[in-house]
Amino acid sequence: MEEKQYLMLPGPTPVPSGVLRALARPMINHRGPEFKALLEEVTDGLKKVFRTQNQVIIFPSAGTGAMEAAVANCVSPGDKVLVVSIGVFGERFAEIARRFGAQVEKLDFAWGTAADPAALAGVIKEDKNQEIKAVFVTHNETSTGVTNDVQGLRAALGDHPALFVVDAVSGLGAMELETDAWNLDVVVAGSQKSFMIPPGLSFLCLSPRAWEAAARCTNSRYYWDVEAARKMAEKGQTPYTPALPQISALAESLKMIEAEGLENIFARHRRLRDMVRQGARALGLELLARDEVASSAVTAILSPAGIGADTIRRVLREKFNVVVAGGQRQLQNKIFRIGHLGYVQDLDVIAALAALEMALACCGYKVELGQGVRAAQSVALAGVGEGGG
Ligand SMILES: Cc1ncc(COP(=O)(O)O)c(C=O)c1O
Repeated sequence: MEEKQYLMLPGPTPVPSGVLRALARPMINHRGPEFKALLEEVTDGLKKVFRTQNQVIIFPSAGTGAMEAAVANCVSPGDKVLVVSIGVFGERFAEIARRFGAQVEKLDFAWGTAADPAALAGVIKEDKNQEIKAVFVTHNETSTGVTNDVQGLRAALGDHPALFVVDAVSGLGAMELETDAWNLDVVVAGSQKSFMIPPGLSFLCLSPRAWEAAARCTNSRYYWDVEAARKMAEKGQTPYTPALPQISALAESLKMIEAEGLENIFARHRRLRDMVRQGARALGLELLARDEVASSAVTAILSPAGIGADTIRRVLREKFNVVVAGGQRQLQNKIFRIGHLGYVQDLDVIAALAALEMALACCGYKVELGQGVRAAQSVALAGVGEGGG
């Protein structure tokens, strides 16, 4: 039974069978009426998930592509930008902005903590000449399992004219994010996370202010040019050949999202988060993030003293076919991350925790079998009343 693997990653995430079937549909003409209808359907569905009236552009790319598109279209060489960083993906935005010629100022917070809106307000207050052209934040920092208070951070910007750019690649669709109500200018997302489809699509949502910035922007871009995408979208097309299988899959997954309802999806993700956290705690394990800022998409667990996190991951994979993510950079071998994002239900988490107990026992950690599972079951049971998983 090699094939039955528990893919507990914060992306790529498991793909439902109906979505897998959609991937196998025959190709269609991407300049024809069927594609026009498909593009309109998925764009409307995406807008509901982004909670926006703004245009959403679909690129055939990894999420990083849309991050690069955000920079290439909205930041000109020499512009000063502020990157709020709480982990690997904040660092990535800073690096992309640097490579596109921006003067990057950073506002860093310890990995495992969230960004403090008051600190951002302080930096903004100091910017008396309004030199900062854009502020970059991460919605859900996948590398640490921390979710930022995006609404609070946006409020900290106040009426400063800088664009507010959000990397919501691993959070959108799993946790609250209100593009229009929170006044977010640019929001980036990716297909292989809460959207439950394979990697290969990225989404970029721009506010009217961001479109104006794009029209003024002097950075070079060709493939990533949002104006080209906007013009072609009017005809129901994309500038270059779209990733047709992924777009068919997206149409299917958006139907599932609509049927479950975003609020129910958020509640399910919160419950999965609580199951993992209570389960890990019951096993005596320490969590990287505090409860108040804990991600509903991924949980970072510190490995117990004397056992490398990568050893636990290896045992999980080799003996139990459970795949979890590791720590990155300074957190390498110190944490392992259990993804509970997208097409995941209560019993998947219970299975992963059962495997974790056994893996820990194999690694010589003193564990009473069933303790983590029981704690998670209690959380799940409390949730059954509100719809179950
Ligand atoms: C928060 C965040 N931003 C950006 C990315 C980059 O996405 P991709 O690997 O698809 O380029 C990821 C991927 O894990 C992510 O979690």
